[in-house]
Amino acid sequence: MKIAVIQGPNLNMLGIREQHIYGPMSLEQIHEQMKAGAAQNGVELEFFQSNLEGEIVDRIQECLGEVDGILINPAAYSHTSIAIKDALSAVNLPTIEVHISNIYKREEYRQKSVTAAAVTGVITGFGPFGYHMGLMALTQIISEVKA
Ligand code: DQA
Repeated sequence: MKIAVIQGPNLNMLGIREQHIYGPMSLEQIHEQMKAGAAQNGVELEFFQSNLEGEIVDRIQECLGEVDGILINPAAYSHTSIAIKDALSAVNLPTIEVHISNIYKREEYRQKSVTAAAVTGVITGFGPFGYHMGLMALTQIISEVKA
């Protein structure tokens, strides 16, 4: 089973940016932990991070026929990007959206995710552990689809 992990803008700054919100772990550290967990379950992960909306759209489109599911944190684009939402709808793969922080506890402009309307489920507010939760959920959903 293959899963694409897609990380949106400024997530390359994890460990540096607003640690009181996002914690001290870097994106590389989060990915290393995910890799270890996935390997135990025979899951292959493909990591991608971009600060550019169009590159994220391109990456989502490439997922078609290449991977079994998508784990995505569209970051700030969650709140604005119809293009990313449309790309997710177009490929129509099992997809989990993850947010490190609880977007419902934050500024009003973060409380709406437009991309969430195109995904299977959303995990928000559990810190980096949300990526593990998302991976567990996605692995289960994909096995059900394949069964
Ligand atoms: C985020 C929440 C977004 O509002 C913000 O723009 C991010 C990260 C999160 O993971 O909590 O960059 O997606």
